[in-house]
Amino acid sequence: MNNSTSLYIFIITIGTIIILSLSKIFFDEKMWIEKEEEVKGWYCGTVPTGIDGEILVFDSLNIQQEEIVKIGKELFEGNCAQCHALNKKVVGSALAGVSERWESEEQLIEFIKYPEQIINKNKYAQEMYEEYGQFMPNHDFFDDEQLKSILFYIKYRSGEKVYVELN
Ligand code: HEC
Repeated sequence: MNNSTSLYIFIITIGTIIILSLSKIFFDEKMWIEKEEEVKGWYCGTVPTGIDGEILVFDSLNIQQEEIVKIGKELFEGNCAQCHALNKKVVGSALAGVSERWESEEQLIEFIKYPEQIINKNKYAQEMYEEYGQFMPNHDFFDDEQLKSILFYIKYRSGEKVYVELN
């Protein structure tokens, strides 16, 4: 091996190393950009919950939700509107944003079914009763799904973002 052959091999080795390093940087960069896009997409509409899969946040309704709102509206108008409006007190309180005043939807549903029972054990419900001076009648003839549609309708009308759980 003469000197010029050794130099030739040396140059080829260094060249290969440089090309490999550059291509690695290039591909890593590309992967990094793709990952960032994935994360951005995820933030757009999805919030992880940990237990029941994911919760999507909608600003407008899909077809299934429109159905729920329609059912809720009908039930509300037929059974609640004689005593409740959304933005003013009638016989009972203004219901806009009511879900936020209760600890959980289960509790709120229990209250609508059996107000008197809940008033006996819940401080907020007691204060409300003192303010309004009468018990709301029981609504235990509704099932939970029907009451959820009414609450969904109220949320929608209150301009709240609507959360739908996907199981
Ligand atoms: C006969 C009148 C009457 C009817 C009908 C009625 N409510 Fe009520 N509602 C009341 C009164 C009065 C209160 C105040 C609490 C109390 O004293 O029981 C109340 C309270 C509530 C609350 C708690 C409000 C808050 O600010 O936390 C909710 C929720 C509610 N009603 C939902 C409903 C729904 C849903 C319907 C229909 C399925 C309905 N109500 C039908 C009279 C009525």
